Amino acid sequence: MTKQSKEELERQLAYLEKAKTLVAAKKEELGRNLKACVVTFGCQMNAKDSEKLSGILEEAGFELTESEEADFVIYNTCTVRDNANQHVYGRLGVLNGLKKKNPGMKIALCGCMMQEPSVIEKIKKSYRFVDLVFGTHNLYRFPEYLCQVMEADGMIIDIWKETDRIVEDLPSSRKYSFKSGVNIMFGCNNFCTYCIVPYVRGRERSREPKEIIREMEELAANGVKEVMLLGQNVNSYGKNLDEPFTFAQLLTEAEKVEGIERIRFMTPHPKDFSEDVLEVIASSKKICKHIHMPLQSGSTQILKKMNRRYTKEQYLDLALHIREVLPDAAITTDIIVGFPGETDADVDDTIDVVKKVHFDNAFTFIYSPRTGTPAAAMEQVEEADAHRNFDRLLKVVQEEARGRVKLLQDKILPVLVEEINDSQEGFVTGRLENNTLVHFPGDPSLVGTIVNVQLSDYQGFYYIGRQV
Ligand code: SAH
Ligand code: SF4
Ligand code: F3S
Repeated sequence: MTKQSKEELERQLAYLEKAKTLVAAKKEELGRNLKACVVTFGCQMNAKDSEKLSGILEEAGFELTESEEADFVIYNTCTVRDNANQHVYGRLGVLNGLKKKNPGMKIALCGCMMQEPSVIEKIKKSYRFVDLVFGTHNLYRFPEYLCQVMEADGMIIDIWKETDRIVEDLPSSRKYSFKSGVNIMFGCNNFCTYCIVPYVRGRERSREPKEIIREMEELAANGVKEVMLLGQNVNSYGKNLDEPFTFAQLLTEAEKVEGIERIRFMTPHPKDFSEDVLEVIASSKKICKHIHMPLQSGSTQILKKMNRRYTKEQYLDLALHIREVLPDAAITTDIIVGFPGETDADVDDTIDVVKKVHFDNAFTFIYSPRTGTPAAAMEQVEEADAHRNFDRLLKVVQEEARGRVKLLQDKILPVLVEEINDSQEGFVTGRLENNTLVHFPGDPSLVGTIVNVQLSDYQGFYYIGRQV
């Protein structure tokens, strides 16, 4: 960490001490505990940020709750597609009702949506009951903002356009005891023309390898068995470090961390996927054989307009090469339908790739124009065409996914048990290395352990199994 980052950490830790006294005084005044609720919208990056927010709130003396009937509620927002934004506005209306019942309640907003000036205008105008707004670049200042909001009334807004700083070591509270995300880099430099992430998360910055490994060691010492290395384009990890370090080298170091049994990563960009990474995965005992590699479109013409910097053939070659090198690996993907100018023939190309790669799973999205991105200014396709093509694609995606899952019938494979199954009494739920879900009869004490399960009953996208 740089000297500046260390100083900032110390400043924020001092604010955290102050927040503790403020929370303690408030508890005394009210004669009860104070509750805080963190709600996450969006991707794993946001989930990881939410763990940092939760850690700080817990350390300050709040009791964490899932219910928004709390004294401090923070929404960590996403703006990757418009429905994520609409969701936030909808729920804010509900929060306003709750605040009327509990006028001491504080409402905070942070995350990607807050990096958009139009959103801030709307909040200032129509959501006056919000107490605190900050963005993605200054999340590490949360202890400071927490003190401010507890001491004063009125809306506090602090949004930064950029930061080059990475502040390590603020408290964090894990949602799961046995698995955790680990940021390896922040931001993105790719500017795919549909995507708002580079605008709201800033330029690519990699963490120092030793900081990442240290975090993994600490997690392992605290009982974590699975880590997910997080970045928008993990293949370009380390390129901007003072001493460059590759993603393959990072994986090799990560493998050595004792106690960590499973390593996942998200997301690799097909244009930067290098052979050395595949070699490390192939010879690894810990790196999960699951490659989530977004396709976005199977049409070279559309890929070009998306600025993805690979062709249909290059993607196919890479995916089929991965199938050869890692025959047991699941390959999953993200696909967008309805990008400007997309024709039925373009979607046929996408479907062709799905059929040739036999994706184990695919997240399919209808294109959502994002203000300020190049694609939003291109001529849009008819909504009805996008929906029709979406349905056509989804059908093939599901057929392929079923076909892949089915191949595992009767196998005995290790499962990391993640939770007690809510819908079937006496059952627990876990994941295979390749990310397939498995439900099987088991004791709650199995949660967080890895056990061998026979995959007896194939159910479309998941298995019912039995422990052996
Ligand atoms: N960095 C990752 C993805 C981040 S966003 C990558 O490069 O693949 C997650 C997914 O959301 C993307 O893969 C894409 O499929 C989808 N997405 C992003 N912007 C979108 C938009 N404007 N409309 C619809 N889907 C979008
Ligand atoms: Fe968005 Fe493209 Fe960056 Fe992924 S690589 S975050 S899709 S700009
Ligand atoms: Fe959404 Fe931000 Fe992630 S826009 S997908 S929460 S990086």
